[in-house]
Amino acid sequence: MSNKRVLVTGGAGFIGSNLTDALIARGYKVTILDNLSTGEKENINPAAVFIKGDIKNPEDIEKCFENKIDAIFHIAGCASTIKSFDDPTMDLLTNTLGTVNMINAAIKHNVDRFEYASSMTSYGIPEKLPVKETFNTRPIAYYGITKYSGERYVLATGLRTDLPFKFNATAFRMFNVYGRRQSLTNPYQGVVSIFIGNVIRNEQVTIFGDGIQSRDYVHISDVANAWIGALENPRAYGEVFNLGSGIRISVNDLVGYILKAMNKTKKEYKIVYKDARPGDQRHMQADISKAAKLLKWKPKMKFENGMKDVMDWAKEVYGK
Ligand SMILES: NC(=O)c1ccc[n+]([C@@H]2O[C@H](COP(=O)([O-])OP(=O)(O)OC[C@H]3O[C@@H](n4cnc5c(N)ncnc54)[C@H](O)[C@@H]3O)[C@@H](O)[C@H]2O)c1
Repeated sequence: MSNKRVLVTGGAGFIGSNLTDALIARGYKVTILDNLSTGEKENINPAAVFIKGDIKNPEDIEKCFENKIDAIFHIAGCASTIKSFDDPTMDLLTNTLGTVNMINAAIKHNVDRFEYASSMTSYGIPEKLPVKETFNTRPIAYYGITKYSGERYVLATGLRTDLPFKFNATAFRMFNVYGRRQSLTNPYQGVVSIFIGNVIRNEQVTIFGDGIQSRDYVHISDVANAWIGALENPRAYGEVFNLGSGIRISVNDLVGYILKAMNKTKKEYKIVYKDARPGDQRHMQADISKAAKLLKWKPKMKFENGMKDVMDWAKEVYGK
């Protein structure tokens, strides 16, 4: 599809900007739609067409189609469980209505390829670990509900036979994505970057719950390979895929790891434990065999190397 144009919503944010860079490096043209609510202007690839606008607003979306769009990566969204409880209406309108608006625009402009940023929070409390795509989806966070409803809209549109073309949809249930450009100052999302930001600024680290809860961390480069590898692969059409590393790491161990890498000891550092927050999943670990089988995708970045890369970046940001 090289030389074709992909519309990346949320292209000024962490995942969207990294995906944009990877698309452009592979010869694609990119249009970005972002309202810069959590995204940063500095993240925007200068080779992309940037439209400042809101996915809640169909008129803003319309502006993205001045150039012919061949595929949509719908990544813009409210990415915070905490904010979804603080402001459920904003979360609902952004994640669910925003996704419906993007689907409407795709249909109107005959865009037949659509990839969607879904989340591991779609599962809620998993039946067992690792989690397979076939497991029950019973989100317990408002955020999980809106991400999952967006996923259903996207995949249900792919089943429609009344459209003039086949809408080829793929949803990626991403686990904890980490990497360069994940905000070091946004306390509401991204546990890796929150802790790195705290430690680099010498601030107290707050762990919600006992820290034994575990997550599956996947590096942004592996996420980019999956999204772009699936773009022109018909085996991805109509499918949902977990994107994780398949490895589970506790929050306590994550903090310990970051402190050690920054030459600090857990004993001397101020770590505060607070009550677990609503919507927190206790343990998460992805079964990634479906993506391995259908997409021939496997995460390549080792946790140690990925973490070193983010920490090097964070040090650059803070001039250390
Ligand atoms: N980071 C993760 O670990 C993770 C895991 C699973 C799913 N996701 C999903 O991936 C997507 C990107 O997450 P991220 O970590 O890059 O977060 P991010 O906050 O860095 O990126 C979100 C981007 O969307 C933009 N945006 C938000 N609301 C918008 C609106 N109404 N209109 C236009 N643009 C809007 C923001 O300005 C930002 O640039 C989100 O949809 C999130 O739910 C993220």
